[in-house]
Amino acid sequence: MTEQELILTAILGCERVDLYQKELSFTTVQQERYQDITFRRLQGEPLQYLLGETEFFGLRLRVDRRVFIPRPETEVLVETILTRVQNRKVKIDILELGTGSGNIAVSLAKHLPGARIVTVDISEGALTVAKQNVLRHGVAEQILFLQADMVDFLAGRSGYLFYDCVVSNPPYIPSGQLSALPVDVQHEPRLSLDGGEDGLRFYHPLTKAWSLLKEQGRLFFEFGDGQRPALEAILQNKKDTYCYDFVQDLSGHDRIAVLQKT
Ligand SMILES: C[S@@+](CC[C@H](N)C(=O)[O-])C[C@H]1O[C@@H](n2cnc3c(N)ncnc32)[C@H](O)[C@@H]1O
Repeated sequence: MTEQELILTAILGCERVDLYQKELSFTTVQQERYQDITFRRLQGEPLQYLLGETEFFGLRLRVDRRVFIPRPETEVLVETILTRVQNRKVKIDILELGTGSGNIAVSLAKHLPGARIVTVDISEGALTVAKQNVLRHGVAEQILFLQADMVDFLAGRSGYLFYDCVVSNPPYIPSGQLSALPVDVQHEPRLSLDGGEDGLRFYHPLTKAWSLLKEQGRLFFEFGDGQRPALEAILQNKKDTYCYDFVQDLSGHDRIAVLQKT
């Protein structure tokens, strides 16, 4: 659907086809909402925030300015995990670091009915939205929320469980590039974008998640365009304890790192 069609179907509560086959008219309230959304969109606010929803991995999810808007690249991260879990029905313990809207956790819970998922985010606002999404999709019993700094969490102060799978799509934009991002991206929480001076601030601590893995456990990380060589340099140090491979996104860019104990 085009943006205009998305706005109109959301405001009128109709299907796309109705826009062309029925004679529709706005009530005064709908007209005002249309004016408001269109004005704010012209100012660069992301459409997903204006509509309060987005789609991820076939699920409708609530989003607002407290959370990062889920991206299609991250669907590849979820797909990668699902293809590497041999039996989707067995019990499996998952840790997600930096959960945002809960998009990854909810998708995994829906597809892995035996999964128990611990999610960590530093942002109270993000966790509030994530909890709404978990309730909306009926997976609350599978998911536990912790508000914590993932760096502290990984330093061992907060978690004593062991996991089959640790997953993270951490902030990975270098701080100096934030002001050059498109205007709609700049509406997203800085906390969800800022990966520190070189964009790699979270990858050193994330490799510590190693110690939280069960035997045969795996780490799955998303990373940014062109960051593979720097990430490999970080991973190289510990190559004797694990092997890794990379998965490409739909544009053919290296996007996901998968690490497994050797
Ligand atoms: C790029 S967003 C990813 C959100 C979601 N998991 C996804 O893939 O769409 C990164 C998330 O990490 C969280 N975050 C940032 N710094 C953090 C920290 N030090 N500890 C825990 N979470 C953090 C942000 O609040 C944000 O929700």
